[in-house]
Amino acid sequence: MTTTPDARTERFPIGAAVTVADLEGDPRPVLAELRRHEPVSWLPALDAWWVTRRDLALEAMRDAERFTVDDPRFTTARVLGPSMLSLDGPEHRRHREPFAPGFRPGVVRERFDDFLTHEVDRLLSGRDGGPVELRTGLAGPLAVASITRFLGLTDIGHDEVLDWYHAITKAITGLTVDDAIDPADAAAVEVARARVRRAIEEGTGENLMREIGRSGSLRVDELGSAALVLMFGAIETAEGMTTNLLWHLLTTPDAWRDAATDPDRLTNAIEESLRVEPAASLVDRYTTSATRLGDVDLPAGELVTISLLAANHDPATFTDPDTFDIDRENARQHLTFVQGPHACLGLHLARAEARAAARGLLTRTLDPVLETHTPPTGLIFRKPERLTVRW
Ligand code: HEM
Repeated sequence: MTTTPDARTERFPIGAAVTVADLEGDPRPVLAELRRHEPVSWLPALDAWWVTRRDLALEAMRDAERFTVDDPRFTTARVLGPSMLSLDGPEHRRHREPFAPGFRPGVVRERFDDFLTHEVDRLLSGRDGGPVELRTGLAGPLAVASITRFLGLTDIGHDEVLDWYHAITKAITGLTVDDAIDPADAAAVEVARARVRRAIEEGTGENLMREIGRSGSLRVDELGSAALVLMFGAIETAEGMTTNLLWHLLTTPDAWRDAATDPDRLTNAIEESLRVEPAASLVDRYTTSATRLGDVDLPAGELVTISLLAANHDPATFTDPDTFDIDRENARQHLTFVQGPHACLGLHLARAEARAAARGLLTRTLDPVLETHTPPTGLIFRKPERLTVRW
């Protein structure tokens, strides 16, 4: 069994050489090396095992009995409280099931299609011709408006939601990097929790959270955590997904026109963009007991990071995996929304957002002018910092 740090470094020399900077920029070369030679590898820079082959990623994400999210070291749960993101087994189902009906495809279509079209028009109106920075001017605000509407917390302003979002992200990063939360961030998270609670208890209009509370399946404190988890899970990811899609369409020759003139090709472009650049590029699990993955024996209680980006570029499933191909037939086989008990609940809403944003621009112009753009970067959440167009 590979237990001591030195023995691990010796057995996994490619993993030992990986730096955080390698993974933040364009990680595809280093992930390809890992996948080929050390598909389960020890990365001292991250203090974690990394899984880079698609079949092994699937094996781990589908088996919560061996690979769990329910571990006290999981920082999101320490900041937001227990929620579906940090539980497994029957408790996980109790926290997840009340939300599932609202995320079904037909329900999302009915509640969101018109809303998203109007919201995109509102965000672009008066800005005809641009320039518009698409991440902060379109994708981000659309994500905030969508999840606020989904939860029915319409008494809460979008700026307020964004402030909480930043406080939550800072608190989780503080805990992950320095093992401490800045008291100001902790206080901001508590203000958010109290405000959500008040909106659930006293808010007006259609309020999904209040309905779930009334059904008795979750307590008010659990609902507060769920609301914050949903906001946390829905903002950066959907903003990244939409921006990545627009970046792929704008930087791949002919893709813009192909997507503009054929709705099926736009549908496939959304999947292909999710495959090539998953906005949330990895998920973490902890081993519940000593177990074997591939040809590696993992001790109990170890952090195992599943690289969705690496799995999505596995040449065993995707030919010419690093190319964005709007007509790729098996694009939907990406693992970006995860499989198994923690598969993304918001995937239909996220797809609807990305489609609405793209349609809004594709119907305005066939010849957009790309003013400034940076490629997607980031260790966990990946997206272009800037993507400015004129038309
Ligand atoms: C409307 C936007 C979204 C909402 C409301 C949403 C909601 C959720 C929720 C509630 C979960 C937890 C499910 C569970 O643990 O049982 C989840 C998981 C996940 N979501 Fe989403 N999501 C959204 C968008 C996205 C996007 C755009 C991506 C990536 C491009 C994404 C990637 C993931 C991943 C990777 C997980 C699995 C986490 C894990 O297994 O540890 N989500 N999502």
